[in-house]
Amino acid sequence: MSANNDSIQKTILVAVLLCLVCSIIVSTAAVSLKPLQVQNKLEDKRKNILAAAGLLQAGKSIAEQFEQVTTRIVNLQTGAYATATELAELTAAGYPVASFDQRRLSKDGNYSAALPGKEDPASIKRLEKYAAVFLIEKEGQVDRIILPVHGYGLWSTLYGFVALEGDAETIAGLGFYAHGETPGLGGEVDNPSWKALWVGKKVHDAGGAVAIDVVKGKVVAGNANEINQVDGLSGATLTSVGVRNLMRFWLGERGFAGYLANLKGQGV
Ligand SMILES: Cc1cc2nc3c(=O)[nH]c(=O)nc-3n(C[C@H](O)[C@H](O)[C@H](O)COP(=O)(O)O)c2cc1C
Repeated sequence: MSANNDSIQKTILVAVLLCLVCSIIVSTAAVSLKPLQVQNKLEDKRKNILAAAGLLQAGKSIAEQFEQVTTRIVNLQTGAYATATELAELTAAGYPVASFDQRRLSKDGNYSAALPGKEDPASIKRLEKYAAVFLIEKEGQVDRIILPVHGYGLWSTLYGFVALEGDAETIAGLGFYAHGETPGLGGEVDNPSWKALWVGKKVHDAGGAVAIDVVKGKVVAGNANEINQVDGLSGATLTSVGVRNLMRFWLGERGFAGYLANLKGQGV
């Protein structure tokens, strides 16, 4: 009897059946949990948008808090909001406003183009044609403009949001929701004390050029550019330079400069 159970055929049969049962369990779990994963991902993104704007409240549902946010799609080449025709085309191509996936768009040859090295200080390789921006209005006026940003640090691409006040000039907050920098070094981009240093800084200098900067070491108090400068992360100069470059890129000509100029002149 035991000799029978130890036969090669039975061992293989048990192994095959076990694999089959396990694979059914795993695939059922993966399929049934997919909608929950999509929902959690969306909720996490919304949470990060609210956090960057300094508006995240504990104990209140994200969906409820996000009701104050309007999502708009901006054509980065014109600096204007996407027209109804463009929106319809994007929806048909699988990029509806409600679940606009800019990361996927940046890899889509129909909606992005390669950036030559010298035009790519943030090392993003490809630039998408459209970006989703998030607006919070108060009494009919834009109060916060939240823009997606990304770029290379030392080890990884950092993805985040920068929030501007209604003047499209003053930084209201910055936060990265994905990166692979070293905890304690470049990972200090997540440190609330460092993020707080950005609040109140100005994007442009007096001449209107994008001047936001992360300096090496501490900002020298009273220097002429103090209003544009944030302390570098100690022991993480390369991540700090990466953040400076990505901020300048996305707030500059190839990024949101045209849109922000339009917004200031209400020409969007
Ligand atoms: C294991 C290890 C992890 C590091 N991680 C980072 C990092 O995440 N970001 C960064 O800018 N530098 C990191 N560095 C340090 C860089 O290699 C480099 O020395 C540093 O950016 C120079 O900055 P400093 O002039 O502020 O020291 C790391 C170094 C080591 C050995």
